[in-house]
Amino acid sequence: MAAIETFPTEPFPTFPDDFVWGTATASYQIEGAHDIDGKGMSIWDTFSHTPGKIQTGENGDIACDHYNRWETDLDLMAQLGVNAYRFSVSWPRIIPTGRGKVEQRGLDFYSRLVDGMLERGIAPYLTLYHWDLPQPLGDQGGWKERSTAEAFADYAGVVAESLGDRVAGWITLNEPFVAANYGYALGMHAPGEFLLTGVFPVVHHLLLGHGLAVQALRAAGVGPIGITNNLAPVWALDPDSEADQAAAERLDAVYNKQFVEPVLLGHHPEGYEELYVGSDFSVVQDGDLEIISEPIEFFGVNYYAPQQVKGATADNPLGFELTPITGYPTTSFDWPIVPQAFTDLLVGLHDTYGEKLPPMYVTENGCSAVDEVAGDGEVHDEDRIAYLDSHLRAIADARAAGADVRGYFCWSFMDNFEWAEGFSQRFGLVHVDFDTQVRTPKDSFAWYRDVAIASPNLKTADSEGK
Ligand code: GCO
Repeated sequence: MAAIETFPTEPFPTFPDDFVWGTATASYQIEGAHDIDGKGMSIWDTFSHTPGKIQTGENGDIACDHYNRWETDLDLMAQLGVNAYRFSVSWPRIIPTGRGKVEQRGLDFYSRLVDGMLERGIAPYLTLYHWDLPQPLGDQGGWKERSTAEAFADYAGVVAESLGDRVAGWITLNEPFVAANYGYALGMHAPGEFLLTGVFPVVHHLLLGHGLAVQALRAAGVGPIGITNNLAPVWALDPDSEADQAAAERLDAVYNKQFVEPVLLGHHPEGYEELYVGSDFSVVQDGDLEIISEPIEFFGVNYYAPQQVKGATADNPLGFELTPITGYPTTSFDWPIVPQAFTDLLVGLHDTYGEKLPPMYVTENGCSAVDEVAGDGEVHDEDRIAYLDSHLRAIADARAAGADVRGYFCWSFMDNFEWAEGFSQRFGLVHVDFDTQVRTPKDSFAWYRDVAIASPNLKTADSEGK
């Protein structure tokens, strides 16, 4: 990972005194206990046990063993000083087969976890779906089937009945772009299908599941409700090339507009049929887009890096070819570090969607690094500190330009199972030794607590009683 930059000298920006300072994780990535207390298998349990799917040959059977260590993990989180924690619920822990019988031990775990957060002054932000679909639903076609969207709404209602009185924010889906395209179009993620442009039914049913879940949560009287999308500016390799510009517009439609416009504007992106040649568009039924665009109270944005493309060769059905972005420092994932692109993204959303865009929360941002415990027993992750510093400054710049960003969840609280890369990419503010399960707060843990969260507050109108 290249050195990102020398530390800025200008003072850290101010944020509102009611700004949400959080951190985030996901069930399959940290919990372990993959077959404990009645939990059913998820498509990620199956995928990670399929030879060749995970680069390191690892799986999430144990991960951070958070299912057993949640109390000491919450104690450590309280030391971090966050006032919010974004976690996800494992659907197969709650309804092992995806439909029908509820596993009370699963509900009890999350009830204890939520109470533990509240006892420590940490507001629970709950993600209902962070990719761990119950395997029996996967066997029946998964998100290719409308029935999965309907089952998701039933699951949402069960969780809302159990935890609704204590959750500060409800996120229906995490990154439907990735769930659809990595999981069903390209096969790098569970369930490992290779539909390419035939993936539209999956896209539509995930979005329909979001809308039906919003209806179920409303019926249970819970809220506020949002969705989380991974979004990024898409650059043309050569802005003067028509082919490269057309490729950028195509990826922007598939990556960004496809998961923003149905939810905020009530329609699939203009010309979406050309994006999904060979797909079955009959999956769109009358009334679906009204369901998908059920009003929500907040919009979650996960940002890591911009994307760049060039025109595709005729044999490439995607219509774009990703190209590496050069000239910037990179993370250990080889992702370019471009804080300005973050500002551009947030301001662009504000300018494009105006009053249709609910208040935003950055529900994930962070970087992977080659983090090792040094001889002094510490983890000196200066690169991560510089990444977080520059990207929080980018948010402050976006706020100054009018973007209504009300919170930040650092990805991630602790090193965890990074999907197809296993445990090789460390994103945590806390280092985890996966052999001993020893947690070691990194230097970025102290920085986030003492510089970011403790940053001088802008007095908001409410706090000044105006
Ligand atoms: C995602 C997921 C997280 C990842 C993180 C780093 O955005 O892909 O929400 O589960 O671990 O983003 O890739």
